[in-house]
Amino acid sequence: MAYRMAVGINGVERELTIEAHRSLLSVLREDLGLTGPKEGCDDSECGACMVLIDGAPVNACSYLAAQADGREVTTVEGVARGASLNDLQRIFLEEGAAQCGFCTPGVIISAEALLATNAQPTEDDVRTALSGNLCRCTGYQKIIRAVLRTADERSGSAG
Ligand code: FES
Ligand code: FES
Repeated sequence: MAYRMAVGINGVERELTIEAHRSLLSVLREDLGLTGPKEGCDDSECGACMVLIDGAPVNACSYLAAQADGREVTTVEGVARGASLNDLQRIFLEEGAAQCGFCTPGVIISAEALLATNAQPTEDDVRTALSGNLCRCTGYQKIIRAVLRTADERSGSAG
C-alpha cells in the first residue's frame, strides 16, 4: 500500500510516496541515495544503520519509513559540514578510530547524540552510548578516545 509522507532529511523537507512496509534504511539508501547508513545485521543488533530521529538515535533497519512522517531524520551525511568533515569525523580519522569504516556512520551518529546531551562525558558514558554499535576492527579504544577528545575540544572552544 502506498503511503504519502513529508519528512525532513538532513534539514531539507522531502515529500515521499513509499510502500508502507518499507524500512527507513531502504528508503534512505535506495530512494534517496544516502548510503552512509549501512545495512549490517538488518536486525537491530549492530548499529551500522543508525540515524537520528528528532535527535534520538534509532536503528533505521528496524524502523518503518512511515514512522518518520513529520519528523526530522539526520544521517551521517547531515553531520558533515557540506563537503567537509565535521570535527568529530576529522578526529576519528586522526585517532585511527575508523578502519574498515563500516561501523563508522552509526558510531558517529551515536556519538553526536551523546555529545548533544552530555558535553563532557566520561569514558563510561561513551561506552554506554556506543553499546549498540558493534565494531570488529578497532577494539573500541580509539573510538572512545576520539569521542572524548572531541568533547574536550568542543568544550575548550566554547569557553
Ligand atoms: Fe540495523 Fe544492524 S543493520 S542494527
Ligand atoms: Fe571496521 Fe568498525 S572500523 S567495523
